[in-house]
Amino acid sequence: MEQTIKGYFPNRRTVRKFSDRKLDDATIDEIISLATKAPTTGNMQLYTVIVNRNPEMLARLRPMHFNQPASVGAKALLTVCADFNRFSRWCRLSDADPGYDNFLSFTSAMLDATILAQQIVTIAEMKGLGTCYLGTVTYNAAGISEILNLPELVVPVACIAIGWSDDDGEENERLPIEAVRSYEQYPDFSDDEIIQLFKAKDDYAPNAKFVAENGKKTLAQVFTDVRYPRGMNEEFSARFIELLKDKKFL
Ligand SMILES: Cc1cc2nc3c(=O)[nH]c(=O)nc-3n(C[C@H](O)[C@H](O)[C@H](O)COP(=O)(O)O)c2cc1C
Repeated sequence: MEQTIKGYFPNRRTVRKFSDRKLDDATIDEIISLATKAPTTGNMQLYTVIVNRNPEMLARLRPMHFNQPASVGAKALLTVCADFNRFSRWCRLSDADPGYDNFLSFTSAMLDATILAQQIVTIAEMKGLGTCYLGTVTYNAAGISEILNLPELVVPVACIAIGWSDDDGEENERLPIEAVRSYEQYPDFSDDEIIQLFKAKDDYAPNAKFVAENGKKTLAQVFTDVRYPRGMNEEFSARFIELLKDKKFL
């Protein structure tokens, strides 16, 4: 069911289980087309979205996302790439010298691609579809680049699993607004205030269950020891830096 803004935001949540209902090209194209109205750096539109629905391609991509449930059940995977290749080629063909093989240019393209991705998510969800970002896209960006045949100056930065929802899960908790906005300068929270700001997360029943299931003492330990541990962050950082070099952004 299509949503109004007021109906949409309080209830929005990630969907990880999808129904068998078909997702046609026209719907995907309409969503992406509307999403391209998003602002971009210098209106250069430094992104490309690769839509995968072909079963063989999906079978190759899913292991790159560690076969996460959302990647397995989705009707399509949309890999959103930071792309300075198309623009640089146009420059060369137009007697202009493109200077976009550097880190600043990567950040511009990454921002354009990320903003587009979120626009796709919002529009899709407002049309009644379910979506789930797959952060594993940056973990295995090199493997995904090979499968999708990405050339120089093109790097995958976001992946959206999309389909019609068959997920009756609940909304997730959020930090209070005082935690995330500060007028004029960065907030000077005391340790006690930090603990208070995270209290709702610590107390949220599904989070408390995670802590117990993982044999941890605190919710923070679930993040640092289980979900996003240092060794994993460092390993995948090193791999992503190698890919940026390979694709000539570094
Ligand atoms: C950059 C990014 C990466 C994410 N990666 C994953 C993922 O790999 N798997 C997953 O199930 N959810 C993923 N998510 C979804 C988050 O877990 C989810 O947005 C968060 O828990 C808040 O829940 P909500 O969106 O339902 O409010 C990701 C979200 C973002 C923005």
